[in-house]
Amino acid sequence: MRLSEAVKREIKQFKKVFARQPEILVLAPGRANIIGEHTDYTGGLVFPAAIDTRIDFLVSGNGSNTVRLYSDTYQESCEFNLDEKLKRTHHWSDYIKGVVCELKKAGYQVDGFNALIGGDLPIGSGLSSSAAFEMAVSEGCAQLFGYAPMDPEKQIKLCRKAENQFVGVSCGIMDQFIIRMGRKHHGLYLDCRSLEYELIPIPSDDLVFVIVYSGVKRGLGATAYHERQKQCERGRLFFNALNKSLRSLRDVNEDLLQVSRENMDPLIFKRCRHVITENTRVKRAVEALRKPDMVLFGELMNLSHESCKNDFEVSCEELDLLVDLARNVPGVLGSRMTGAGFGGCTISLVARNRVDEFERYVGNLYNRTTGIVPEFYITHAEDGVSAVRL
Ligand code: GLA
Repeated sequence: MRLSEAVKREIKQFKKVFARQPEILVLAPGRANIIGEHTDYTGGLVFPAAIDTRIDFLVSGNGSNTVRLYSDTYQESCEFNLDEKLKRTHHWSDYIKGVVCELKKAGYQVDGFNALIGGDLPIGSGLSSSAAFEMAVSEGCAQLFGYAPMDPEKQIKLCRKAENQFVGVSCGIMDQFIIRMGRKHHGLYLDCRSLEYELIPIPSDDLVFVIVYSGVKRGLGATAYHERQKQCERGRLFFNALNKSLRSLRDVNEDLLQVSRENMDPLIFKRCRHVITENTRVKRAVEALRKPDMVLFGELMNLSHESCKNDFEVSCEELDLLVDLARNVPGVLGSRMTGAGFGGCTISLVARNRVDEFERYVGNLYNRTTGIVPEFYITHAEDGVSAVRL
């Protein structure tokens, strides 16, 4: 494998910080959710892709009981002892501690190691830097301590558990799943209940996905995210009380939702309408992709945004502005917020020959209105996590 200039620089930095060579390099991509937002934790359908911005995790054993870390991103070192009871400290090292705890609980050996965390995946921008981080750590340990390849499903669930229990965010399974299972030029159609999935080719000759970071840190501030989860659960209980066979919102169709409207709390109705219609949109988007009918695909992305904004209320002014501006550019087939919302990124399906115009127009007008310089990522679907011995 040819190492990029960035990785060569990280290797040098590793040697400088730890006075030894890294043994393993793990590359963990970020994820862009193309469609299917806030459906994973209700056992619904999603269609994300792994992208070509990523976390680099360089690691080597150090023969001690201590984990020594250096974040290239924060230019900060820290360490912890494996014999101590590890606790959450609301620091970036929580992701490493969380994965280490879960690995040990599951009976995997973890000894002391030195690790440098780098890469170009922006942190807290809604491209799932947390799941990428967790996946990188589990893969690094698996390679270093000899249990690679881990069973993919086990690895995915273990990383999710680290986030749910150690970090304290009760995320769904989508991010860890795509970061482990993503494939170049493909999106991943995932049933978050059965965990059945299918990789669907994404035509990339004439069209590209452009991700725009709004510059607003995704204040997921777990609170609003957890509140949405509770509201979905209330919706689920409502339908389950009507009919025991309705196990999740996934089993409720739009007709039943509509006839139930007058008996439902209006807010819960809206939340359920988002989830139920979003599942349908994911199915239709995948059918559109198979044809391929990219115009329909783009329309479904647009509808998904409206639903996130109006029914699920997880967008924000900046994301709405980016979406509105994107839709003014000729050659844009669809645009929507991606990820948990409340800041973070949008994703737009753009004709390849219009990308420059897109960047100019959206960049200038967004900056003029908000004072923020947005960041653009012209992305391609990439492979999931990978590792090389250096
Ligand atoms: C975050 C979570 C995911 C998912 C999305 C919303 O990224 O980590 O599990 O719930 O929000 O679709």
